[in-house]
Amino acid sequence: MSTANHSVSGTQPGTDDDGPAFGVYLHWPFCLSKCPYCDFNSHVRREQIDEARWVRAFTAEIASTAARLSGRVVSTIFFGGGTPSLMQPQTVAAVIEAIARHWPIAPDAEITLEANPTSVEAERFRGYRAAGVNRVSLGVQAVDDRALAALGRTHSAREALDAVGVARAVFDRYSFDLIYARPEQTPEQWSRELRAGLLEAGEHVSLYQLTIEPETPFAALHAAGKLHPPDENTARIFYDVTQEICAAHGLPAYEISNHARPGGECRHNLVYWRAHEYAGIGPGAHGRLDIAGDRHATATEKRPEPWLARVEKEGHGLVTDEVLTTAEHADEFLLMGLRLAEGIDPTRYTQIAGRPLEPDRIAMLRQHDLIEMTPAGRMRVTLSGFPLLDSVVADLAA
Ligand SMILES: C[S@@+](CC[C@H](N)C(=O)[O-])C[C@H]1O[C@@H](n2cnc3c(N)ncnc32)[C@H](O)[C@@H]1O
Ligand code: SF4
Repeated sequence: MSTANHSVSGTQPGTDDDGPAFGVYLHWPFCLSKCPYCDFNSHVRREQIDEARWVRAFTAEIASTAARLSGRVVSTIFFGGGTPSLMQPQTVAAVIEAIARHWPIAPDAEITLEANPTSVEAERFRGYRAAGVNRVSLGVQAVDDRALAALGRTHSAREALDAVGVARAVFDRYSFDLIYARPEQTPEQWSRELRAGLLEAGEHVSLYQLTIEPETPFAALHAAGKLHPPDENTARIFYDVTQEICAAHGLPAYEISNHARPGGECRHNLVYWRAHEYAGIGPGAHGRLDIAGDRHATATEKRPEPWLARVEKEGHGLVTDEVLTTAEHADEFLLMGLRLAEGIDPTRYTQIAGRPLEPDRIAMLRQHDLIEMTPAGRMRVTLSGFPLLDSVVADLAA
């Protein structure tokens, strides 16, 4: 496939020359029900969640993380889940205040909260805005009631789009997620659904191909021959029509599954993909911290109640704190950066790896039209290379 119609690179959301950024991710691990395709760290609890207790634990973990990371200015905060839109607005406000007590929050910081698109949750949007949230990301998943039921969702398409309407009225910035390449779905049906969905889009959408995650109810159905997701060739058609429709709508992909108008990219996710620094707070949260010249990979206890108990006893929930080797750090930089349409800066790779990328391997991948160099000297994966991203990275890796 020619790279002339490289719609994935239709936008250049700046470059990572925009300087270091520091993000804070906070995980809320509870949902009202568990969707059968989902393997996120999300749990259903019958009893009421004691939010004041959770705020104390988040506050303690923020303090212990900040003690290791002084002098940072927060550029992004992301409340992810689970279902953070089950949190009371005052809980969200208390967490943002706790962050601000330890690190200054930049005046233009992006503060995102993931929300399920139900009417009950949309009623809290104004409270979140008053708490400091300035962007929401809604899990619409499908614009089709039968598909929503098959995905185990508790909302209708109408209710989800109404919640998008409330988000648009309350926040300057919003995004929503759709899942495609679903069992029984055809590329033609998806094209219609996507076009209808995009009528409600603002500056950003996330479009995920359904993955059958191990140990989910969908994996069991799939193993039993009762769920038929599209084969690889059809999945490729789904991917290609998604790129075309979004690009034509002014929302080109800036990352494999993420589309934005130029300037509308999710700055928090760019922190991950550009391999900047982020702190992970809450159960199962991951962090990457640059301390005394070392890149630390951190992770907290995943299970909610044991995380709470650990934080109450020790002041933090950390179970992993490893210093990455130079090769691990360099590989991670490639793996994350090559997901982006803007690609990577080879000079930054050299700084991290202590040596440049192998010219022979670059030449081989360019010959196969899997990577290309931009006029600004960045290296990126071509549209034909994207479905083979893992092997492209493996070829380049240290
Ligand atoms: C942490 S989840 C969800 C946010 C929120 N709880 C919701 O469901 O609306 C983030 C997104 O991951 C996507 N996702 C989860 N499991 C997936 C799967 N197996 N395949 C594709 N996308 C998935 C969904 O689009 C979901 O909105
Ligand atoms: S998709 Fe969202 S609501 Fe469903 S289980 Fe996963 S995190 Fe919870």
